[in-house]
Amino acid sequence: MKLAQSIFLLFIIGITGCGVDTNTGTADTDINTEMELDKENEAQDVVQQVDEESLLSPNRVLNIAHRGASGHAPEHTLISYETGEEMISDYIEIDLQMTLDGELIAMHDSDVSRTTDGQGLVKDLTLEDIKILDAGTWFNDENPDLAQPVFSNLRIPTLDEVIEKFGTDANYYIETKTPEEYPSMMRELIATLNQYALIGPHLPEGKVIIQSFSEASLLEAHEIDPSIPLVQLISYQSTAKISDAELEKIKEYSIGIGANYRHLSEAYVKKVREAGLLLHPYTVNEIHDMERLIEWGVTGMFTNYPDRLSELLRD
Ligand code: G3P
Ligand code: CA
Repeated sequence: MKLAQSIFLLFIIGITGCGVDTNTGTADTDINTEMELDKENEAQDVVQQVDEESLLSPNRVLNIAHRGASGHAPEHTLISYETGEEMISDYIEIDLQMTLDGELIAMHDSDVSRTTDGQGLVKDLTLEDIKILDAGTWFNDENPDLAQPVFSNLRIPTLDEVIEKFGTDANYYIETKTPEEYPSMMRELIATLNQYALIGPHLPEGKVIIQSFSEASLLEAHEIDPSIPLVQLISYQSTAKISDAELEKIKEYSIGIGANYRHLSEAYVKKVREAGLLLHPYTVNEIHDMERLIEWGVTGMFTNYPDRLSELLRD
């Protein structure tokens, strides 16, 4: 899309330029040359603006609704994703698990017990088993001040259902969770994205980003379709450090790094950014942390409160 827009704009400017090329003398030639240069500069400015609008522009700060607007609604439900969109987030973040019968569902944990009224591992349950679970009442019980009757008895959505609801207007930031448990997960994910035409050169770049803590899972994605933007997640346990060699390795298949914000330093952010990688810390919920990370130069962040980040970015 970006390239197509740029070509279209240059084409229009090119046509306009041809229309004024009627010079017959030296002075006119100079004037026309200046006009052409002006137009060329204008064209470059316009193309630059188009680039700045790209979701993957290093000059943007992306607002990624972590498990939807999960500070306001039960995580990984359609209501949570919808609330995230209403709060002007750039991305719906989806964690994937896979059922016994091979369906991709939106769920963070590999066990259903924390966020539903059921028990057991997703990989041991069929989609039919999953679909009878209540994925919202736990939120009302744990958050009486945020509880809403509409959150009771919500269903766990499949990836297909999420895409069918939000379509190609939404942007998706999808994580393969414990892919070592689900050998076909990445293939299924990319097949689904292709089925809904959510990847490919006809779309704005960054329409879908795939993220994982598993390097192997990302390398598999890169092998299947090297055009898909990938983000390597890293969970630091203490002050984050990264070597030049690690950065070079990550750059071979990934456009960026996602890391837990608590262990980041300004020097780490600078190093990652200077290496040409995007940096999306997780999960940043307090405004003072958002402000600090933006000052340090991150290019987006995962938050349970996309409304807070939207307001900060607007201001
Ligand atoms: O995907 C970024 C962040 O969500 C990673 O942490 O555990 O919330 O999936 P988690
Ligand atoms: Ca995640």
